[in-house]
Amino acid sequence: MRFFVMMIVTMCAVAGCVTQPKAGASLYQRIGGLPMLSRIANQTLDIVSKDPQTSRSFEGVKMKTLKESLTNFLCVKTGGDCVYEGETMKKSHADAKITTAEFERMVDVMRERMDVNGVGTKEKNELLRILAPMKRDVVTD
Ligand code: HEM
Repeated sequence: MRFFVMMIVTMCAVAGCVTQPKAGASLYQRIGGLPMLSRIANQTLDIVSKDPQTSRSFEGVKMKTLKESLTNFLCVKTGGDCVYEGETMKKSHADAKITTAEFERMVDVMRERMDVNGVGTKEKNELLRILAPMKRDVVTD
């Protein structure tokens, strides 16, 4: 009997009978990681840089670099293991004097891109809740 109990205890230790509750997956993981974030960033920037409502700020901006920077930024903000080496939101947008209307248009495009690419409602709203307070740093009007 004692041997039997010892066997069970040993097997449990090896197999992990008492599992610790796993910490919830990060938004980064749930949203689809870097492939999804880069898709959202790239598509959003392709649209807003051509849309007459928002394009003016992007004139002369290196879009490939900006796409990479926005992707890394979103990665960090959603809990991914990336390094964002860009400026603060305040500093990087100060010169462009971005309006509330432009900000709202860009966030709308991001929302639409998340829908189109199949991001879940919960994850979409979580990301939008992260972005919304940035308005005070991005917008100047
Ligand atoms: C929540 C909304 C926004 C986020 C999260 C965001 C994020 C970023 C990031 C991460 C960068 C790169 C900074 C760097 O690499 O140093 C950037 C730059 C830039 N953003 Fe935004 N942005 C937002 C809204 C907007 C809006 C509404 C516009 C214009 C309609 C805009 C126009 C630009 C431009 C033109 C740059 C490039 C600045 C430069 O290189 O001189 N952004 N943004």
